[in-house]
Parts: sequence; C-alpha cells; structure tokens
Amino acid sequence: MNREFISYQEVLKLYNRQDIHIFESHNNMPKVISTGNGEVIKFFYKKTWFSSNYYAPYAIRFLNNSRKLQTLGVLSPEVTRLKYCQQLKAHIIHYKKLPGDTLLSLIQNGNHELFSHAIKVISYLHKKGIFFRGIHLSNIIYQSNNNMVLVDVTDMAIKDKPLSLPMRYRNLQHLFFHKRDYNLWKSIGMDNCVQQYLDLSGLSECAKKILSYLFKLKLNLLIRVPK
Ligand SMILES: Nc1ncnc2c1ncn2[C@@H]1O[C@H](COP(=O)(O)OP(=O)(O)O)[C@@H](O)[C@H]1O
Ligand SMILES: [Mg+2]
Repeated sequence: MNREFISYQEVLKLYNRQDIHIFESHNNMPKVISTGNGEVIKFFYKKTWFSSNYYAPYAIRFLNNSRKLQTLGVLSPEVTRLKYCQQLKAHIIHYKKLPGDTLLSLIQNGNHELFSHAIKVISYLHKKGIFFRGIHLSNIIYQSNNNMVLVDVTDMAIKDKPLSLPMRYRNLQHLFFHKRDYNLWKSIGMDNCVQQYLDLSGLSECAKKILSYLFKLKLNLLIRVPK
C-alpha cells in the first residue's frame, strides 16, 4: 500500500471536523476517531527517538497483521489508507467503522453470556498460533450475526503452529487479569472461565492439567495477597 504524505494543516483539519467522534485520545491528542462517513482513523504518534517504532512503525504492523489475520479466518479492520505526517512524526491509518459494540460495553450492560465469546476467540487464536497481546474486552467487537472482530491488532506474534503452553498461559493472563476487566471476570468465576477455555483448547489432558494447576496457583495467590 502506498504511503500518502499529509501536512500538519491537513491533520488539524481532520481534528477539527464537526462530524468526528473521539473513541480514544492520548496526551490530549485524538488517537482513534470515527467520521460521519463511516471511517475510523487511528493516529500512531512517535513515542521516543529510540522506540522500536522507528524501525517497524506500529501502523505498518497493524496493516500487516490485519492482512495475515484475514488469511487465517480472523476478522479485523481492513486498512484502506496509510498516511504519514512529517511534522507530527505520526502515521495515520484509515479503516471502516464496524457495526456492533465492544464486548466490554455489552458485558457492562448486562450481557454476561458474552464472556464465553471472548473465551471462544482466544481459544481459536491459540489454535491458529496467534498471540494477540492486546486481547481484552474492549479490543473485540461483537456483531449481531455472532461475528467477532479484533481491533487494535498492532501487537501480535503469529506462529505456524498452535501456541505453546507458556504462551497460552501468558496470553490468558492478558485476557483475564487485564487491570480494567479483572473484576468483571472475577464476578462470573474465573475457574469456570479457565475450564471453558480448556474444553475448547484442543490440548492434551496432561497439558490441560498443567494449565489448570497454574491458574489455581495464581488465583490462590491473588486471594491471599491483598492489593
Ligand atoms: N473499526 C472499528 N469500528 C468500530 N469501532 C472501533 C473500530 N476501531 C476501534 N473502534 C473503537 O475504538 C476503540 C479504541 O480503538 P483501539 O484501536 O482499540 O485503540 P487503542 O489503541 O487506544 O486501544 C475500541 O475499543 C473500539 O471501541
Ligand atoms: Mg484498544
């Protein structure tokens, strides 16, 4: 995909459009916005001079990951434009706004049956060898046809075989112990969630026992050590 160059003035025009909705900001700058014509625009500002962003810009990782995910049968936004603003040192990508809501907002509104959908997503990703570091409830959009779409796909590793046990354990922790979502998961019973994952995991009985043991240990520690 060709990288278009965009001036700071053009970025300012985007910020000041009357029809935008800001999903996320960062340091008082818009980070993810949607426009009246159904586009989402995400800004990747350069963090530091030495950040790895310099070598593999996050926007390009997003673009590559979303393409790879599509070939693996995982839905994610299709990037339609890639831009760069020299003055801001920011990459900007455009993609379509998806119908549906995040699992987080749906669950917070009482749809507790949707927890199991997040577990379905992560077990599918693991079987396909996908380690999605950003896995948590506000990065999964649930649609009325039961489809689930991953957003925020910058940070992931894709292997050519199912994930190893340590990687699965690490990634499940990203899902269940995410600072914001932890109490939600706890409210429906973490043991039950781990069991649901194991049932879908395709792991051997021995591997399931190890994973289940590691979680029991972690949960016991969390109960004993007050935060
Ligand atoms: N394609 C999209 N369609 C609809 N909503 C989206 C889309 N992309 C992002 N969002 C919304 O914007 C929020 C922030 O986007 P995200 O890419 O997760 O940014 P951040 O890196 O700040 O977490 C998401 O949680 C979701 O609510
Ligand atoms: Mg996000």
